[in-house]
Amino acid sequence: MKTIYSAIQPSGIMTLGNYIGAVDNWHRMQADANNSCIFALADLHTITVRQEPAQFRKNAMSFYALLLALGLDPKKSIIYFQSHVMEHAYLSWLLNCYTMVGEMNRMTQFKDKSQKHQDNINMGLMDYPVLMAADILLYDTDEVPVGIDQMQHIEICRDIAMRVNSIYGDVFRIPKGVLTKVGAKVMSLQDPTAKMSKSDPNPKAVISVLDEDSVILKKFKSAVTDSETVIRFDPENKPGVSNLLTILSVASGKSIETLEKEFEGLMYGHLKVRTGEAVIEMLKPMKEEYKRLINDEAYLLSCAKDGAERAAAIAEKTLRRFKDAIGYVSL
Ligand code: TYM
Repeated sequence: MKTIYSAIQPSGIMTLGNYIGAVDNWHRMQADANNSCIFALADLHTITVRQEPAQFRKNAMSFYALLLALGLDPKKSIIYFQSHVMEHAYLSWLLNCYTMVGEMNRMTQFKDKSQKHQDNINMGLMDYPVLMAADILLYDTDEVPVGIDQMQHIEICRDIAMRVNSIYGDVFRIPKGVLTKVGAKVMSLQDPTAKMSKSDPNPKAVISVLDEDSVILKKFKSAVTDSETVIRFDPENKPGVSNLLTILSVASGKSIETLEKEFEGLMYGHLKVRTGEAVIEMLKPMKEEYKRLINDEAYLLSCAKDGAERAAAIAEKTLRRFKDAIGYVSL
């Protein structure tokens, strides 16, 4: 059995980037009987940026419902809130003592977020990759399916784990990051040289998986492309068109080469509408399921409780193993 672990922050909206780059891949991995899957809502990570309490709670429930609506099965996989399993924060502290300040200073996301939130460059923002390493290492993870933007954090997780192992022997399993074949970096619809991000202030740039169908179509129709007319996959010179082809490929299940042939002689307008329609189709079953689930908080909480208990049973053992290796007195 391979252990698969990944997580998503319940901040703001779940974007099409989150779905294509990560959650859709989780769903595929869950379908493989050789995988044991654990998926978390990384709600401890979320408060590195200030959250309004009522909205934060609402987002967390909404993301949990979305994960189930998108096909993650709480019976097959462990699906839980990070904040419900105390070992995450505990291991994070221990790992802090094996992590260098210089390593954290070099993290691209820390530099970006410090720029964006200059009034709140808190320790959590800097320490975020260590908490993420704790998440992954607690479960003896083999593979971590993520989008490209998280790969640097997985590299540092591996470095920290190897450092610990070099001191104490085999404490942690060394995980590896895995990217989805198509769509590991979905780009903004308004600036296709930048990642589609839930914190983008321009709502036209980002598709929320819960956007109304008409809104999705409108956003795709106004997607930024280029001044040529040829529909060709060339991310460097034609980032907008290439992004649409990527999204359409995932939403339609057709390869990019097949799509390039289908669109020979057609206009960008056709590509935009087809992509919008395919995304609407792809998200349709999830939306209906979501509407049902979000009104059943008791069910969602019972799944979350069960997930947290199963997660904690694994996490406790790993934490104990590390504490024993360090030399802590156990009772
Ligand atoms: P988060 O919440 O920013 O994103 C969740 C997942 O979505 C992927 N993603 C994208 N993929 C493709 N294109 C995009 N435009 C795009 N935007 C986001 C991310 O790469 C990620 O896989 N720190 C993590 C959450 C986390 C975690 C973990 C992940 C906490 N602990 C342990 C893996 C393992 C984060 O903030 O992801």
